[in-house]
Amino acid sequence: MKISYQEVSKHNTREDCYVILYNKVYDMSEFIPHHPGGPQIIVKYAGKDATAVFDPVHAPGTIEKHLPKEKFIGELDLDTVPQEVRDAANAAQKEEEDRRKNIPPLSGCLNLFDLELVGSRVLSNMAWAYYSSAADDMATYNENRDVFRRIWFRPRILRNVKNIDLSTRILGHHTTLPIYITATALGRLGHPDGEMNLTKAAAREGITQMVPTLASCSAEEIAGARDENGAPTQFFQLYVNSDRRVAEEMIHNAEKLGFKGIFVTVDAPQLGRRERDMRTHFEDSGSDVQKKSGEDVQRDEGAARAISSFIDPSLDWNDIVWMKSVTRLPIILKGVQCWEDAVMAAEFGLAGVVLSNHGGRQLDFARSSVEILAETVDALKERGLFPRPGFEIFVDGGFRRGTDVLKAIAMGATAVGIGRPFLYAYSAYGPDGVVHALRLLRAEMEMNMRLIGAPTLKDLVPEMVDLKALHHRGSGAPTSDDTTVFNPKGSKI
Ligand SMILES: Cc1cc2nc3c(=O)[nH]c(=O)nc-3n(C[C@H](O)[C@H](O)[C@H](O)COP(=O)(O)O)c2cc1C
Repeated sequence: MKISYQEVSKHNTREDCYVILYNKVYDMSEFIPHHPGGPQIIVKYAGKDATAVFDPVHAPGTIEKHLPKEKFIGELDLDTVPQEVRDAANAAQKEEEDRRKNIPPLSGCLNLFDLELVGSRVLSNMAWAYYSSAADDMATYNENRDVFRRIWFRPRILRNVKNIDLSTRILGHHTTLPIYITATALGRLGHPDGEMNLTKAAAREGITQMVPTLASCSAEEIAGARDENGAPTQFFQLYVNSDRRVAEEMIHNAEKLGFKGIFVTVDAPQLGRRERDMRTHFEDSGSDVQKKSGEDVQRDEGAARAISSFIDPSLDWNDIVWMKSVTRLPIILKGVQCWEDAVMAAEFGLAGVVLSNHGGRQLDFARSSVEILAETVDALKERGLFPRPGFEIFVDGGFRRGTDVLKAIAMGATAVGIGRPFLYAYSAYGPDGVVHALRLLRAEMEMNMRLIGAPTLKDLVPEMVDLKALHHRGSGAPTSDDTTVFNPKGSKI
C-alpha cells in the first residue's frame, strides 16, 4: 500500500507516531519506549523522514530485527513529498558531495596529520565533532602529543640493519606491525561501511583490530568482513552493562564470533565532557543497543553522552573476578592510568593492560600513556611480574609517527593502539586510506629502526631512549586558543 506524505504527517505525536525510513513508513508508537537510544529522538521525527539521522548509526537489518512486521505500514508515495522537503534533502546531499569534492589524491598525504586535515574537510560537523573532540580544556589531548617531544633516542651504530623486521605477537597472535587498530565507536558517522573499512585494511596489512561495543556496524557484520583466511585477528572491547546478563551475553557472543580477547574499558564510569561534541547536539543514538527501555537520554550533550548511559559506574575488581569466571578468553583492562592498577591487574591474573587516557576524552589532566608506561614497567619489574609470559602492556593515545611507536616499544610495550587517524583515513578514502596510513607508519618505522640500530623489535631496548625529560611537563595550563587551534573546521566554536 502507498501512503501519502500528508497522511504520515498526521501521525506526529508520541502516542501516534509514524516515521519514514528509506521511503518506507513505520508505526513506531509502541516501539518508542523500547528504543535503545531513548524515546526523544523518535518523537522528534514523528510524522517525518528520519533516514538521514538513522542511517549513519544503525547497522543494516536493525529495523527488521527490532520492529514487528506488522509495524510496516507501507511504501511512501514519492509523488506526494512536498517540494520543500525534497529541496532540504537535496541541499543536504549536495553539501555532503561538496565536502568530498577536490580531496587530494591519497599519495598526497605524507603523514597521519595530512589525513586528519582531509578528514576534517570531508566529515560533517557532527561527525568531526564526535571523532575529534576531547575532554574539557583538552590538556590531556595535547599532552598525548607533547610527551613525545620529551623522549629522545640513544641510537647504536654499526649494527647490521639491512633487513628490518617489524613483526611481533599480540596475545599470541601474529602481527606485521606493533600497532593495532583500537576501538572507536560510531564508525558509520564517517563512511557507510563504518568499522568494516578497518577490518578490510587490517586484513590487508596483517594487523589486528579491536571491535567496539558501540560500533555502528553489528559485531556480526564486522566479524563477517574478515577475509577468506579469517584475517584480521579481532578483539572485542567491552563496555560493561549495568545488567550483567547483557554483559555476559556480549562476552559469549564475542567468543562465538571468534574474537580473541576481551578488552574491558575501565576509564569511563561516566563519559567525559567533550564540548565540541556537545555543541553539535547529537541527533541519534542508534548503536547503543543496550540501554534500558524507556529511559530518557540527554539529547543535548553530544554523541558521547547520548550513547553511553548504560555503562555501569559501579564496576569494580569483583566484577573482573566474575568476568574471568564466565570466559576463557584473555581479559585485558583498557584505560589503566597508574602503576598500582597495572600491578593489581597482573596479580589478578589478567592477560594485560592498555595504559590509556581514552585519547584525552575522559579525565582531563590524566597523564599520557608513555609516562605511565615508564613507571608501570619499573613497578612490575621490581615485583618480578615483568617481563612475564601471559602479561602484556599496551598503550594508546596520540601516537602519530613511527618514532612515537618505537619509543613505546623500547620502553616495554608490546604494541600501540591508534584511533582517530584511521577514522579520518577511511572517512575520506575508505579502506585504502587506512592501508595508506599503515604503510606510512611502516615506512617511518623501518627507516627509524635502521637509524636507531635495531633490526628487530627485540633489539629496541630501554637503553635506546633517553627519558630524563619525561616528567617535565609544560605548565599544562590550557590556553583559550586550544580548542580553536585544534579545530581545523573552526566553524562550530
Ligand atoms: C571517536 C572515538 C570513539 C571512541 N570510542 C571508544 C569506545 O567506544 N570504547 C573505548 O574503549 N574507547 C573508545 N575510544 C578511545 C580509543 O579506543 C583510544 O583510547 C583513543 O582513541 C586513542 O587515542 P588516539 O585517537 O589519539 O589514537 C574512542 C576514541 C575516539 C576518538
